Amino acid sequence: MITLGIEGTAHTLGVGITDEKCNVLANVIEMYRPPEGGLHPREAANHHTDIVASTISKALTDAKLSLKDIDVISFSKGPGLGPCLRVAATAARALSVRLNIPIIGVNHCVAHVEIGNATTGCTDPVLLYASGGNTQIIAFANGRYRIFGETLDVGIGNMLDKLGRELDLGYYAGPTIEKLAKEGTELLDLPYSVKGMDIAFSGIMTSAVALKKKGHRLEDIAFSVQETCFAMLAEVTERAMAHVGKSEVLMGGGVAQNKRLRGMIETMAKERDAKMFVPLPRLCIDNGAMIAWLGHIMYDSGVRMTIDDTKVEQRFRTDEVNVTWR
Ligand code: FE2
Repeated sequence: MITLGIEGTAHTLGVGITDEKCNVLANVIEMYRPPEGGLHPREAANHHTDIVASTISKALTDAKLSLKDIDVISFSKGPGLGPCLRVAATAARALSVRLNIPIIGVNHCVAHVEIGNATTGCTDPVLLYASGGNTQIIAFANGRYRIFGETLDVGIGNMLDKLGRELDLGYYAGPTIEKLAKEGTELLDLPYSVKGMDIAFSGIMTSAVALKKKGHRLEDIAFSVQETCFAMLAEVTERAMAHVGKSEVLMGGGVAQNKRLRGMIETMAKERDAKMFVPLPRLCIDNGAMIAWLGHIMYDSGVRMTIDDTKVEQRFRTDEVNVTWR
């Protein structure tokens, strides 16, 4: 069974194709980069609209398949930015109706977990999902994927991008901040913002910008921001693992590419006899293959949707998903 999945929750329009064994036959990722300033949902959606047809064609070419080979269409139903979600949903509906094949709308966060389960060898992890728009700690408990901790304001990637703009480091500044942080030597004082199992980042950003105005080196600011924020993530991830009694931690999202964050999570995992898993980079960031794969396992477990069921949900919560496949 071949599934074509369309991702479109935020800056990335992705089209992936998987088979029933989670072989990734294609995984085309097209990321919108704003010419200046931050991500505007409408402009990102216009980007997705312009390229969605050609991206589907490219994925089919990469997979050496044609549309008639596709058995199921899936798409990211949420959570995400409304205009972007609607592009992916509209393209998926059009294909489903035109080809007369089933359509499945999937939860983007659960897709990060399931592609990790299928491709890294973990079986029942706590997911640390750290991306631009989302920062959540997710685990399967009592029949559902549940959120055990999350950001109370912005996603960590979003905060790093905003900080990058304030410090003139350009957009999608995470990799630049990671590079600068390697040269940092002084741990500067920043608010350590863990509230119960939740975390907050915007106060850290405000404080980091103030440190720049006081004349501190960019390297030390980047180092201090990483050390503080990643320690917060490691703390809540560890407490979630202890609470649900799991010995695997899975990384997901664009910020999971950061080697310092991985290093901290790996150390934490080792100290509690647990194991860390990280999907391949192109399956860790937002991508269509994970959407295709979750669409496949949902369909395979008996889930069916009509076109009326495919309305996008900007605030689609992880624990709203009825997990029929475990
Ligand atoms: Fe994501």
